[in-house]
Amino acid sequence: MNTKVVKLNYNNLDKEAIKEAGYVLRNGGLVAFPTETVYGLGANALDDKAVKKIFDAKGRPQDNPLIVHIAEISDIETLVQEVPEVAFKFIKKFWPGPLTIILPKSNKIPNSTSAGLDSIGIRMPSNEVAREIIKASGVPIAAPSANISGRPSPTDLERCVEDLNGKVDYIIGGEKSNVGVESTIIDCTVYPPCILRPGGVTLEMLKEVEKEVYIDPAIMKKPEEKLKPKAPGMKYRHYAPKAPVKVIQGDLDFTITKINELINKYTKEGKNVGVIATDETLNKYHNAIVETLGSRNNINIIAQNLFETLRKFDDKNVDVILSEAFEEKGMGIAVMNRLKKSAGFDIISI
Ligand code: TXA
Ligand code: MG
Repeated sequence: MNTKVVKLNYNNLDKEAIKEAGYVLRNGGLVAFPTETVYGLGANALDDKAVKKIFDAKGRPQDNPLIVHIAEISDIETLVQEVPEVAFKFIKKFWPGPLTIILPKSNKIPNSTSAGLDSIGIRMPSNEVAREIIKASGVPIAAPSANISGRPSPTDLERCVEDLNGKVDYIIGGEKSNVGVESTIIDCTVYPPCILRPGGVTLEMLKEVEKEVYIDPAIMKKPEEKLKPKAPGMKYRHYAPKAPVKVIQGDLDFTITKINELINKYTKEGKNVGVIATDETLNKYHNAIVETLGSRNNINIIAQNLFETLRKFDDKNVDVILSEAFEEKGMGIAVMNRLKKSAGFDIISI
């Protein structure tokens, strides 16, 4: 397939390209586009055939439901059976933005979009280009992250092209996603509302609106038979670069010592080692390829750089990646969730 790639100038948006992307979507094609969280791979959420193409292009397991993206709050009305009071409060406070709300689906949503579930996740992105494209399409847009299944989600146009060139009709964008990790998913089909995936809207922010909100206990732990994550997608190994990742968790001195110990061990075995560090620790590691996520004082920047850093190591030919850890509060919860998953829960801690 011939993929059209358009790099937008954000100071002067190419309205024709946006219209064209909308046209492709409305007619059953696939378009990758930017959002504030990560890039998405869109199709008409109401078109069974179009949605199936997403699963093919990504190599996505069939049991993993898609999130439906809308351009206006009122677009939700025909997609769900009801909007409970608490969901309405979240919408008022956090839309447009990185929050996906799970609600009972209406019969307009085909089973391929919801992967056979009775519920559907809806999100209104804050990214202007995303909303313009959805508007131009005139339909709700099902959009998973625009990566090949299992890989870290793309946060810029180039990474999208890397994964999807030749597999989709259109790739449009240009700016880096500024949140850097996917939306928070909150299940409002149950009470109290349950966070199925931590993301750009933090637990603390959600609790300010509804103090009973809690996180699905299954998602921060290694997947076990007894404790299945409620979001089907959270059970898969994910965000994984080619080399295995190990997360080292403890105070910073312990972390630095342990990582250097491991570098020595792997180097002796003839392995190339990558280290995911921070500005504060960047020059503390020797005999390794070191990438910084940014300063420990700004967890939002760390989230922004996380997936790009994981992907960078694929270009660098390392055999193992050792990563520092972060405090599990605020955005740190989402960062640690993605890191642990990328490591397949291979965590060394004191
Ligand atoms: O930030 C985002 O949400 C991005 C951008 C493109 O908007 N999209 C995204 O989609 O991350 P995806 O498909 O990569 O992740 C969707 C996750 C999966 O883990 C899926 O299992 C879960 O949402 N999910 C979707 N619908 C669900 C439902 N009805 N019940 C439970 N989990 C659901
Ligand atoms: Mg994804």
